[in-house]
Amino acid sequence: MKTLSPIRWRRFRLDVLDQTLLPFRKKSIACRNGPQVAAAIKDMKLRGAPLIGIAAAFALAMDARRSRAVRSSDFIEEMRRSGDSLVKTRPTAVNLKWAVDRMLGTLDPGASVADLKTRFVVEAEKIYAEDLKNNRLIGRNGAKLIKNGANVLTHCNAGALATAGLGTALAVLRAAHAEGKKIQVYVDETRPYLQGARLTAFEMAEEGIPHVLITDSMAGHFMSKGDIDAVIVGADRIAANGDTANKIGTYSLAVLARAHGIPFYVAAPASTIDLRLPSGAGIPIEMRSGDEVKFIFGKAIAPKETKALHPAFDVTPANFITALITEKGVIRPPFGPRLRKSFL
Ligand code: MRU
Repeated sequence: MKTLSPIRWRRFRLDVLDQTLLPFRKKSIACRNGPQVAAAIKDMKLRGAPLIGIAAAFALAMDARRSRAVRSSDFIEEMRRSGDSLVKTRPTAVNLKWAVDRMLGTLDPGASVADLKTRFVVEAEKIYAEDLKNNRLIGRNGAKLIKNGANVLTHCNAGALATAGLGTALAVLRAAHAEGKKIQVYVDETRPYLQGARLTAFEMAEEGIPHVLITDSMAGHFMSKGDIDAVIVGADRIAANGDTANKIGTYSLAVLARAHGIPFYVAAPASTIDLRLPSGAGIPIEMRSGDEVKFIFGKAIAPKETKALHPAFDVTPANFITALITEKGVIRPPFGPRLRKSFL
C-alpha cells in the first residue's frame, strides 16, 4: 500500500500539501508556528479528523521551541493558550482536542523548560507514528469485511489525505485492493466542498483502484438497482453509544443503506472516540459559510439574495451502523459496552 503524505514534518517546520488546490495542483505551504497551522486548518488546506489532530500536535511542538519562557509555569500557561487557539479552529472532530490534551498531558511543572520542549517533540512524533500504524491496522481489520467483486460506496475523504498517510475508510479499500480483491469504489462527490470528487477520486486514481464518481443524490438510485454492496465512511467523532458524526450527507447514506439492506461501516481510530459524550446529541456541529454552498470555484450558482446553509457534518444514529472498524478490531452492536471495553 502506498503512503501519500499530506504533511511533512521537518523538525521544526510543517510542510502542508494545500488540499484546496487538489487535484489540479500539488503545492505545499510551510508552517512554522501554531497560528499558521491553525489558519491552514481553518481554511481547509489540511483537513480530515486524524490529520488536524496530528498537525495540532506538531504546531504545539513548534510553538514550544519558539517560546522564550524561563519558568516552567509560564511555559505551560503559554502552551495552554496555543492549544486553545488550535482547538477552536474546528469544533466537530474530537481528534483535535484529543491531540492537544495528550500534548498538554506531558507537561509537568517540576521539569525544566528544556525538558518540556523535548517532551513535546517526542509526543508529537509519537502521535504521527501511531496514526500511521493505526491506519494499517484499520485497513487490515476492515478488509475482511470487503468481498471479492464488491462495489463499495464512500463519502467525503477518509483517506491518506485525512490521516498520517493511508486513511481509515480508504485504508480498508486500499488493503482489500492490495489483497487482490476486485473492488470498485463508488465515490460520492460530497457537496459542497467536493472532498470526494477532488480528493478521494484523486487518491483512487493515483493508486489505480477502479472507481466511479457519482453525485451525492445518485446513491439511492444505485442502491435500488443492487449496484452497491457496502458503504464505508470515516468519522469525526463517535459518542459512547456509537452515534457518529461525519461529513454532511453521511446520515442520509446510512438511512438509504438500511432501507436497502446494505451494510454500513464506519472506520476510525481511538482518537475519534469520545467516551465522555453519552450520545451524538452532544456533538457540536460546525456551521460553515453558506457561500461555500452558493459558489463553486468562485462562481455563483444561486441568486444573490438567496441565503444558503452549511452544516459541515451530521450525526448518524448508532442503530444505522453495521460495524465500527478500529485498530483494535471490528466492533459490532451493542456499541456502548463494547466501545468501553476496548477503549476505556
Ligand atoms: O470537513 P472535512 O473534510 O475535514 O471532513 C472530513 C470528514 O468528514 C472525514 O470523513 C473524517 O474526518 C474522517 S477522516 C479519516
